Amino acid sequence: MRSARRPPSRWPGWPWLPRRRCCCPASDEGGPEVSKGPSAFGGGARGGSAPSHRVLAVSFEIFLACAPGLEPLLLEEVRGKGFRRPRALPGGVAIEGGWPEVWRANLWVRGAGRVLARLESFRVVHLAQLDARARKVPWATVLRRDVPFRVEAVCAQSRLWHSGAVAQRIATAIRETVGAPEAAEAPVTVMARIERDLCTLSLDTSGEPLHKRGWKQAVNPAPLRETMASLFLLACGYRGTEPVLDPMCGAGTFVIEAAEIAARLNPGRLRGFAFEHLASFEAEAWARMRAVESRRDAPALCHGSDRDAGAVAMSEANAARAGVAAGTVFRQAVVSEAAPPSGPPGLVMVNPPYGTRLGDPGALRPLYQALGQVLRARFAGWRVGLVTAEPRLAQATGLPFLPPGPPVPHGGLRVTLWRTGTLG
Ligand SMILES: C[S@@+](CC[C@H](N)C(=O)[O-])C[C@H]1O[C@@H](n2cnc3c(N)ncnc32)[C@H](O)[C@@H]1O
Repeated sequence: MRSARRPPSRWPGWPWLPRRRCCCPASDEGGPEVSKGPSAFGGGARGGSAPSHRVLAVSFEIFLACAPGLEPLLLEEVRGKGFRRPRALPGGVAIEGGWPEVWRANLWVRGAGRVLARLESFRVVHLAQLDARARKVPWATVLRRDVPFRVEAVCAQSRLWHSGAVAQRIATAIRETVGAPEAAEAPVTVMARIERDLCTLSLDTSGEPLHKRGWKQAVNPAPLRETMASLFLLACGYRGTEPVLDPMCGAGTFVIEAAEIAARLNPGRLRGFAFEHLASFEAEAWARMRAVESRRDAPALCHGSDRDAGAVAMSEANAARAGVAAGTVFRQAVVSEAAPPSGPPGLVMVNPPYGTRLGDPGALRPLYQALGQVLRARFAGWRVGLVTAEPRLAQATGLPFLPPGPPVPHGGLRVTLWRTGTLG
């Protein structure tokens, strides 16, 4: 199994994270760098379903995808959670492991948007070659005859450029070798990426994107993704032991993520995954993994406030569904009323309105000024993490920000995390 992603020589932004070199071996063909290793089919086994003990023993490359710019943070999380040989690549983090690690990554990792199992890589320059090669893939070891599938293809800088034709050839190969039906709304997605004539086949093992934790039924107009919120909390040094306060909490994303981290709850505990529909799935082993109890009493409370009563009600309902109502406190308040809760200092995490999406940036300047004034006046001993799409608005707070992180794509905008050290 190979991956065609080239890691940059250094990661832009996140200057406070340790820099580590990626360990992908370089291709000797002067093309994309590739990593070599057995595939999710089990060391190149061909045809037929592998017995379950064999399926669980197989090791292959697993790719945890994230928004560009967040790779170093995701690497830090993945390394901290003990996954094997993590390395940052553009758009995510690769690890090695088998199906249990795929399940665990989906269940445990907060910052990944989806988890892909690498199946095969091969060079391909015309459709007839793709037809022949796709038929040799031992699809039946991972796909089930009774479960509908779909294929998504992307082509870049390759002689095969028509992604629709590529998807259709691969789908035909699967239909004719496994007998599974193709469907637009299938629970299983095969992903094909052809880059510089190297075709990489992967399975999306997550299904619904992982920021959908299963508790956010109510949303405000501009919610942060839970995946991004968790990585920004990590970037601000949050480890689940100190209080957190979001004075513009919207649907409560930061507060609920923080409360889950404090209570040591797995982010994927409330939802299902695409891997449950694969031939490699072992229901009993998965049930045992899911049942491991990690919950603890949170060492500190997480607080949210918003001027909008509807947002407060939404946050409370979301926190209740997430099972962290006892670890969270929400109230209706405008930002000028924000005050530190009694007890030790902690982290203010805030994602104020940023104009381009929710109004005019110029008109928001007084709001950012008021936020900065309140934090500087009342929050001595606290740290601040502020997420905005407008650098001038961040600067309007007058807060002593450290060098910012890189801009990260989010809902058609590029947002940046601004952090302070401990306020004096
Ligand atoms: C971008 S949204 C926050 C989204 C939130 N991070 C989430 O993921 O749901 C900004 C929030 O700031 C709130 N807000 C705007 N002006 C405010 C003010 N003066 N005081 C308190 N909250 C305010 C809005 O009601 C809105 O919920």
